[in-house]
Amino acid sequence: MKNDVLKYSSDKHGIVSNACLPLDREPDILSLRPERLSDYVGQTDTVETLKIAIEAAKKRSDVLDHLLFHGPPGLGKTTLAHIIANEMGKNLTITSGPALEKGGDLIGMLTHLEEGDVLFVDEIHRIPKTVEEFLYPAMEDFAVDFVFDKGIHARSHRYRLKRFTLIGATTRVGLLSAPLRDRFGIFRSLDFYNENDLMKIASRSATLLNISLDNDASAELAKRSRGTPRIVNRLLKRVRDYAEVRADGLISKEIVGAALSLEGVDEMGLTTLDRRYLKTVIEFYKGGPVGIEAIAATLQEESDTLVDVVEPFLLKIGLLIRTSSGRKASKSAYNHLGL
Ligand SMILES: Nc1ncnc2c1ncn2[C@@H]1O[C@H](COP(=O)(O)OP(=O)(O)O)[C@@H](O)[C@H]1O
Ligand SMILES: [Mg+2]
Repeated sequence: MKNDVLKYSSDKHGIVSNACLPLDREPDILSLRPERLSDYVGQTDTVETLKIAIEAAKKRSDVLDHLLFHGPPGLGKTTLAHIIANEMGKNLTITSGPALEKGGDLIGMLTHLEEGDVLFVDEIHRIPKTVEEFLYPAMEDFAVDFVFDKGIHARSHRYRLKRFTLIGATTRVGLLSAPLRDRFGIFRSLDFYNENDLMKIASRSATLLNISLDNDASAELAKRSRGTPRIVNRLLKRVRDYAEVRADGLISKEIVGAALSLEGVDEMGLTTLDRRYLKTVIEFYKGGPVGIEAIAATLQEESDTLVDVVEPFLLKIGLLIRTSSGRKASKSAYNHLGL
């Protein structure tokens, strides 16, 4: 667990050593990460909420309320945690639910926090129940209770913590227990980005990576990125490689199309896995309704991956419908696959 911790001070951001990067192991993606709220594209309601909360906390010289971010992978939850610590001028400590195996792991981290510091717990829905119980008093009273001995000799000792901000991120808010969810002062769901916002992200990243991308090319990239900033950035790099090898470095709409087809990404941005998923529902299960476990078994994929990564976008663009009796392919799914 120890190497799953990343701690650095906000004035040193950007020089985090790769050796201890826990969650986003791609250092070049890290550098594409906006560092200020003003550079964070889209999610305007969330950004506005955060601006107000940050300014108010600073005015009162108070600690920022605990925050919970929910949404599919790649939409900017971790980025927000970095930005918030930066904007508050405090240290950020990063860990994740599965990395916190014992209460001691969490307590060790909590006792090292300074006043106002930010503790980011990614995949917070996967935190073990026993560890979660230490979080309650920590979040509410900024204290941890140690229990010594057992049975009639049991004594407990309350240790005061410095006041801190917990930021939780989750792809499955439904798996969070109510007591934990209720202890967050601010809860925001991040939604998929529109093409306009994705174009801004593509242009920003292109500038940072020294890639020249015309407007049509950037629009094409945005259209094929499943509404997800992380995917825009990833595909941009594939397109750059393709252009350098096959097209003298000039990136046009056609180059984007050709490069992405090679990646298995179609005009709607669906990946090979997305199409296999839809084909399974349509051809193997006659269009549904079918349960997720059955689909997962047929595809030989983890059902968690399908629920977290594949389904949210298919639901968003209306290719998939969820009913009480299972998943169904929509008419547009048949059309899109030419079935
Ligand atoms: N609003 C945004 N504006 C610009 N870039 C973004 C934005 N949100 C995410 N990104 C980019 O996408 C990448 C993935 O975001 P991340 O915060 O790691 O997603 P999550 O934690 O939700 O899975 C980041 O490294 C960043 O470069
Ligand atoms: Mg993340």
